[in-house]
Amino acid sequence: MTYLTRLLTGTAVSLALALPAAAAEYRIAVGDGAGGTQEALGKAFIAALEEESGGEMTGKLFLNGQLGDEQDTVTAAATGTLDFSILAINNITPFSPSVGTLTLPYVILSQDDAEKITQGEIGQQMIDQTIEDAGVRIIGWAYSGFRVLTNSKKPVSTVEDLQGLVVRVPKNEIMIETYKSWGINPTPMAWGETFAALQQKVVDGQDNPYMTVYAMKFDEVQKYITNLRYLFSIEPIIVSEALFESLSEEEQQHVLAAGEAATQASAEFLRSEEAKIREELVSRGMEITDPADDEKEFMELATTNVWPKFYDQIGGKEVLNEVLTALDRPTV
Ligand code: MLT
Repeated sequence: MTYLTRLLTGTAVSLALALPAAAAEYRIAVGDGAGGTQEALGKAFIAALEEESGGEMTGKLFLNGQLGDEQDTVTAAATGTLDFSILAINNITPFSPSVGTLTLPYVILSQDDAEKITQGEIGQQMIDQTIEDAGVRIIGWAYSGFRVLTNSKKPVSTVEDLQGLVVRVPKNEIMIETYKSWGINPTPMAWGETFAALQQKVVDGQDNPYMTVYAMKFDEVQKYITNLRYLFSIEPIIVSEALFESLSEEEQQHVLAAGEAATQASAEFLRSEEAKIREELVSRGMEITDPADDEKEFMELATTNVWPKFYDQIGGKEVLNEVLTALDRPTV
């Protein structure tokens, strides 16, 4: 049985029992709770790392932001006080603006697009740039699906419906500007504060993938979902570059191979689980609305107003065009 099969059949941790006493155990911060793609990526990574290293290397997941808020874990890994972190790409962008291309609205339009870009030449360039900008190395990617909008007040299907809602967004300029292009001023807030803010009605809503809404139990404090597709959430696993450089060449290869295996497991996990999770959220009382007119109004406002504002920050319009070309889409 491969580690991928073991992950999907729930026996991925079996090897841990056979680890030598001296196995190096790395701390892996995870922003979300149990049951989402971040945890799936983490479990697959650990199983693969144990297998690749013959049990000499392993990891331990710390879920629910126990080791710090997602953006703070980037700084902690960069300074060498944290080993690994699994977090949403939008929480890396403030430290490495070039990965912002992946958070521009309506650039990634499917899971296939996300896999093609992250696992191809452009993904490699982003990995190199992130090491330089942020002192962390992306070694694998989780795919979490589109960030759907949730709120506690009303069904939203048009831009007009959105008016008056107080929506939490990550501290990410691109996402803030996207909501502004839809006519509202969102509330930037750290991930770790979001559940309480929804519960205490400091904000009415937020956006995140179905898998994350489920893993964070947002159904307990949110009622309505709008099936937006403006941002496909990609959630990398990063390693402290200082730690990576301190490993032997062989250990580095184990880490990289485990990252690749975990990426494939994550892609499979989303494909097999997302529809089930969506149904589960409905059975818990959430109501799903599709955006009117196939989302055209949301899309036109966001692409027209937001893209040009970030050309400089992502390294030039040509960087976006490179991504669009790789996806066989018209350039700008
Ligand atoms: C965020 O909204 O800050 C992130 O998407 C949270 C996450 O990593 O799931």
